[in-house]
Amino acid sequence: MKNSVPAIIFENIEKSFGSLKVLKGITGEINRGEVVAVIGSSGCGKSTLLRCFNCLERINHGRLVVNGLDLSAATLNYTQLRQLRTQVGMVFQQFNLFPHLSVLENLTLAPQKVMGKTLKESAQLAGLYLEKVGLFDKASVYPEQLSGGQKQRVAIARSLCMNPEIMLFDEPTSALDPELVGEVLQVMQQLAKEGMTMVVVTHEMQFAREVAHRVLFLDRGVVVEQGSAHEVLTNPQSDRLRTFLSRLNAV
Ligand SMILES: Nc1ncnc2c1ncn2[C@@H]1O[C@H](COP(=O)(O)OP(=O)(O)O)[C@@H](O)[C@H]1O
Ligand SMILES: [Mg+2]
Repeated sequence: MKNSVPAIIFENIEKSFGSLKVLKGITGEINRGEVVAVIGSSGCGKSTLLRCFNCLERINHGRLVVNGLDLSAATLNYTQLRQLRTQVGMVFQQFNLFPHLSVLENLTLAPQKVMGKTLKESAQLAGLYLEKVGLFDKASVYPEQLSGGQKQRVAIARSLCMNPEIMLFDEPTSALDPELVGEVLQVMQQLAKEGMTMVVVTHEMQFAREVAHRVLFLDRGVVVEQGSAHEVLTNPQSDRLRTFLSRLNAV
């Protein structure tokens, strides 16, 4: 039953910060197992949209249902929010690892605190996911001893330890040196292959083309175009998307 319902449903959602209206009525859905790339210029609302999906921001208007939880409800209790945060993982541009904790401690913290797992159970999980991202041998080092690409792979492993049903990625490779981008995209591609539901804000058009089932182009707080990666990226319908893509190609 659950599988037939989209992972995320959003209807006419709006979000403002004071008088600044950032999301101006966005409608769509993310299906289970679907990989959706969100593209658009800086400041158009991509991060805000992702942050609404895991309730780091509350929407002001519209309907938003994530993994069955109605985030447009007037009130959400602590248990609901905690559950949502385990079901929806988020990976940030700046990794957000705890610098004073080892890789293993970064991974075992939330499963113990949030899911009530023992240290031993958490460490087993951590080992499994570090292996998956190719960093099993880095368990005891601290984030500062890792390259950017390794940090981001640790951040992905940390999210996976919560056994999420949906993963949100906010420009996961934008802070990386170009030669480190590939190793992170490869991990994400593997996740996609395994059927993870993913929403990925990215400027990596090749990744969008190869991995995303659908691309959503956001401009000034509205969805201007969406469709298959092929449709959207090779046959843009609007001037706004054409301009955006030509600027990307120019750099
Ligand atoms: N917490 C906030 N308070 C005030 N303004 C914000 C906040 N978060 C984002 N904004 C503003 O909202 C707009 C969209 O931001 P954002 O969603 O981060 O864009 P993008 O990720 O597409 O670059 C920007 O003008 C930004 O300055
Ligand atoms: Mg952003």
